Amino acid sequence: MPSRYYVTTPIYYVNAPPHLGTAYTTILADVLRRFRALCGDESRMLTGTDEHGAKLEAKAAEHGMTPIDFVNKMSAPFRAAWPQLNIEPDDFIRTTEPRHIKVVQDLWQKVEKNGGLYLGHYEDWYCIGCESFKTEKELLPGNLCPVHQTAATKLKEETYFFRLSDWEKPLLKFYEKNPNFIAPESRRNEVISFVEGGLKDLSVSRTSLTWGIPVPGNPRHVMYVWFDALTNYISALGPDGANANDLRRFWPPSSRAVHLVGKDILRFHAIYWPAFLLAAGYREDELPSQIFAHGFLTVDGEKMSKSLRNGVDPLRIATELGADVLRYYLLRAISCGQDGDFDHAALIERYNADLGKNLGNLLSRVLGLCTKMTAGKTPEVGTLTELEQSLIDTMSASARKAAAAFDEIAPHRALEAIWDVSFAANQYVDRAAPWAEAKAGRVDRVETILATLLEALRHLSVMMWPVMPKKSDEMRLQLGLSAVSPRIGDDQWPSAFEPRAGGEPLAPSGPLFPTLDKDAVHALLEKLVPQVPEAPAANTSDPVQPAQSAEKAAEITYDDFTKIDLRVGIVKTAEKVPKKDKLLRLTVDLGEAEPRQIIAGLALSFAPDALVGQRVLVVSNLAPRDFGKGLVSHGMLLATGPSDALSLASAPDNAPAGARLK
Ligand code: MSP
Repeated sequence: MPSRYYVTTPIYYVNAPPHLGTAYTTILADVLRRFRALCGDESRMLTGTDEHGAKLEAKAAEHGMTPIDFVNKMSAPFRAAWPQLNIEPDDFIRTTEPRHIKVVQDLWQKVEKNGGLYLGHYEDWYCIGCESFKTEKELLPGNLCPVHQTAATKLKEETYFFRLSDWEKPLLKFYEKNPNFIAPESRRNEVISFVEGGLKDLSVSRTSLTWGIPVPGNPRHVMYVWFDALTNYISALGPDGANANDLRRFWPPSSRAVHLVGKDILRFHAIYWPAFLLAAGYREDELPSQIFAHGFLTVDGEKMSKSLRNGVDPLRIATELGADVLRYYLLRAISCGQDGDFDHAALIERYNADLGKNLGNLLSRVLGLCTKMTAGKTPEVGTLTELEQSLIDTMSASARKAAAAFDEIAPHRALEAIWDVSFAANQYVDRAAPWAEAKAGRVDRVETILATLLEALRHLSVMMWPVMPKKSDEMRLQLGLSAVSPRIGDDQWPSAFEPRAGGEPLAPSGPLFPTLDKDAVHALLEKLVPQVPEAPAANTSDPVQPAQSAEKAAEITYDDFTKIDLRVGIVKTAEKVPKKDKLLRLTVDLGEAEPRQIIAGLALSFAPDALVGQRVLVVSNLAPRDFGKGLVSHGMLLATGPSDALSLASAPDNAPAGARLK
C-alpha cells in the first residue's frame, strides 16, 4: 500500500496580488509534494484563495465593485501565477465556491449539534487587517493593532460563540501526545504557553457584515472568516461521509496531512482548527498531522511593506532568471522555519556559484570529456577503486541526509546535502584525472571514471527535481535520460550506484546556467531591484537600492574621493511633499548666501518638525535632481537604515554650517 501525503498552503486573501511571501509557501508546498511523489507516495497539494470577510468587503467598496466581482477579479492572478513558478497544485479552492460553502455549513451544524455554539453578545475590538478579535491589552496606544499599525474597530453585536474554553485541556494533552503536531519546536512552545494562559470562547459569527457564509438557520449572521477559511482544507477534499472520496483518502488517519503556514497565522491553525474539528466530532487521529510555521521574509534587509511589497515580483524574477533559480535560492538561502532575507545580490551570487560554477560546470565538463574520450556515448564501468568508492559513499550519504531533511521540512539542509555530491564529483574529476589515464592508454580507467561521474550526475538530476523540476529535465536531456516522472508505489529516490550500460547516446547542449558576467549582473540588478518611483534614486542611503549596498563598491582613488564635497548643514525648514509619502522638502543652511532646497526620502522615518535645527551631513556638489513640478533637489543627506527607520549621519554640535568634511 503506498503512503498518502497531503500538503496545503494557507489560502491567500485576495486584497493584493501574489508576492514573494505567498510564493515562498506555495513553492515550499510544491517541493514537498514533488519529493513525496518521487518517493512513491500518492501525493496531493492544495492552495487557493480566501475571499470572504470584512477586509475584502471594504476593499471591494474602495474599488467601487461588488465583493463577488472584486474577488473574481483578484483570485485569477493567484491561479495564473503558480504554474509560472513551476508549481503544480492538484487543486485550487476558492471560499466562494459552492463546494466549499456546503462543507463549511455542514461543519457548523455538526459543532452546533454537539453543543459547541451558543448565542451571546460580543463587545470588544477587532482588527480588520488580521481579521482577528483583540483585547484592549493586545492593542497599542490609540487602539492600534501591533501588527498592522492601523486602528482596531470596536464591535458590539450579537454573535455565536464557539466554546473554545472547553478545548483548553484536551488541546494541551493532544500537543503532549503528539509532539510533532506543531513545528518547529520553538513555535510549538509558543502555542503551548498561549493555551496554558487560558482560552476564551471565540466569537464565530458577525451581524454587522454580509460578505460571508450565512449561518445555517440564522442567516442574519455570517460566519467568522477564519471558521470559513480553515475549513478549506477539508472542503477541497469533498463532502464528508461518502465512501472512498478524497476526504477519506487524503485526510488522517489514511494520509499524512501537513499544513504550511506563516508564523503570524499559527494560532488559528494550531488552536482554533483542531478545536473546531474536535467539536464537530472528529477524533484525535482525524486531526491534521502537522502544522508547520515558517518565518517571515525581508527583502534586502527591509520589511516587505504592505502596500509595495518592496516591489519584488516573484514572476519577474522567474522571467529573468528562471523559476527554478528562484525556487533554489528561496529554499537554499532561507533556513525554513526561521525568518530570512531575500537578497538580490545573494540570489545572483548563488546563481553564478552554486548553480553555474558548481553544478552546471560539472555537467559541461563531464559531457565534454565524454565527447572527447568516449565518442559522446555512455562509457562502460569497470573495476572501482577507492577513489570511486569515496564518491559513491558521498552519494549515498547525501541521498539519505537529503531525504531526511525534506521529510523534516528543512529543504535548505536537503539542498546542502545534495550539493555535497556536486562538490565531491568536481573534486573527483581532478583527482581521478581521466585525461592522464587517457594519455597513459588506460581506456578501462577512463571509462570507469566517466561512468561514475555520469551516475553522480544522474543522482543529482533526480534529487534536485523537487526543487528544480525544469532544470532537472534539461540536465537529463543532455545526459540522454528521460524526464523524472513519479509513479505511485515506485520509490525513485536514488539509493544505489547503478551506472548505465555503455554505448548509449549523450546529448550535450551548452551550459545549464550560463555565467553572468559583471555587466550582465549589473543589468539584471537594474531590472530586478525594486525602484519606487516617488523616492529619490540617490537620496539618503537610498533604501530602494539596497542590493548594491550588499556589494562592495569599486575602489576609488584619493582624487576621486576629493571630488565629493561633503559639508555640514543645518536644517532650517522641513515639510511633507504633497502626494509623495516618502519625501520631505528641506531647506538646509550650508553657509551659503541662501539655504539650499534638498528633497529627501525621510518622511517615513521623521516628522518634519523633528528635523528643524538638526546638523546633517550633505553631499553638496551632487548634480541637481528634478523630481518634477519644480521640485529640484540641490544635494543629498547621508543616512543609513531601512526607509522607515533611517538614522541620519550627524556632525559635531559645534561644527559651523558649511564646514567641509575631509
Ligand atoms: N487568508 C489567511 C489565511 C487563511 S488559511 C486558512 C491569510 N492570508 S494572507 O494572504 O494574509 O497571508 C497568507 C500567508 O502569507 C501567511 O502564511 C503569511 O504568513 C504569509 N506572508 C505574508 N507576508 C509574508 C512575508 N513577508 N514572509 C513570508 N510569508 C509571509 O493570512
